[in-house]
Amino acid sequence: MKLWQGRFEEESDPVFEKMNRSLGIDAVLLEVDIRVSRAHARSLLGCGVLTQEEWTAIDQGLEQILSEYSPEQVKSSPYEDIHTFVEATLASKIGPVAGKLHTGRSRNDQVATDFRLFVRKAIGLILADLEALQLALIESGARYSDIIIPAYTHLRRAQPVRWSHYCLAYVEMFRRDGERFEQSLSRVDILPLGSGAVAGSNFGVDRESVAKELGFSKISANSLDATCDRDFVLEFLSNAAIVLTHASRLAEDWIIYSTEEFGFLELSEKVTTGSSLMPQKKNPDGFELIRAKAAMTTGLLAGFLGVMKGLPTGYNKDLQEDKEALLKAFENVRLSLSVLRLSVRTVTLRTDRTEKAARDTFMGATDLADFLVMKGVPFRSSHEIVARAVRAALQQRKQLDEIDLTTFSPLFSELPADYLAPENIVNRKSQSPALR
Ligand code: ARG
Repeated sequence: MKLWQGRFEEESDPVFEKMNRSLGIDAVLLEVDIRVSRAHARSLLGCGVLTQEEWTAIDQGLEQILSEYSPEQVKSSPYEDIHTFVEATLASKIGPVAGKLHTGRSRNDQVATDFRLFVRKAIGLILADLEALQLALIESGARYSDIIIPAYTHLRRAQPVRWSHYCLAYVEMFRRDGERFEQSLSRVDILPLGSGAVAGSNFGVDRESVAKELGFSKISANSLDATCDRDFVLEFLSNAAIVLTHASRLAEDWIIYSTEEFGFLELSEKVTTGSSLMPQKKNPDGFELIRAKAAMTTGLLAGFLGVMKGLPTGYNKDLQEDKEALLKAFENVRLSLSVLRLSVRTVTLRTDRTEKAARDTFMGATDLADFLVMKGVPFRSSHEIVARAVRAALQQRKQLDEIDLTTFSPLFSELPADYLAPENIVNRKSQSPALR
């Protein structure tokens, strides 16, 4: 069955049908499609298109479909899309009165409504994932609160920081990601139903009541816009690409930090793999896949932006591709956040290696320059003085605290012995100069 066969003499070609059919993907909208149809039926009752008996038959029929089918079962049935499946199945249950359900609506406003409900729920799930990941990061920071690691710029040792400081950097990123998703909800939360195919409905349905029933707080203002507005999909893809960009950077860090060369982290066997050939290997596949999924998700955003930019006003079938893109991005985000959380919760810090790295006193060079500043030397001069000391230490293959600094400035004779200890470098950052 097709919802539009009447105008056609010929059957569609199977190869075209394969391209046109979206049920394999939009079957996941089964639940929301039925909710939307039930709300629509009630509005048809309200404006007199349906009698009480007709409405009851339709409403109960729809409810039955929901209890009898799962999206998985629906996927392989021979219909064009989820809307066709629901209408055809309803007709097989309650007969010709099912044909009244589609009064005053189009699949265009219907799918836009379905998808907004779906996206709203998807965002809720991502927000919970993000919170759980932030909690895991906070816990790791607390568990290793006295551990200091090098902070890097240009992936060269820069200055020591606490492990917790590092973890909290990612808490900030994931917090912003949550904020972005949350803020986008106000633009998802708009009811398109009642817009018809493009120009609105002739039946004076009470859209406010429909909105209320479906939990939308606003109704769309313009039918031409509402039926082809996919800003909410673009925003979701963009937010997904950004959160995965953060996930990917964390993954990249931890791939590096867990190498034999760095050796700061021991990744759990729960999130690593071995090699079929090299018996010694423990590979960070989870992180590598997160890195790749971040790239692919960026591609989904770029792809769908490309789809949108060339569309003439009004619905075009190009829009059907929105679901494949968003569902894939959604899956990528959920999987990546879960694996990341598991990795964070199960990682072990190799504190012998972090301690050794943190004791690299070249990372205290800036503090040495600042010490001279505190004694009244202009920073440009103190930078120059310490740079000379650095050069000398490097030439002698010594650490910065192993050479006689007073030969570079007599003021260094007042330098406290433990001035370059990593704890002290770190602690000074959060104290006022008077306490130093
Ligand atoms: N499967 C379609 C989609 O997802 C439903 C809307 C079809 N509308 C139409 N005019 N052919 O976009």
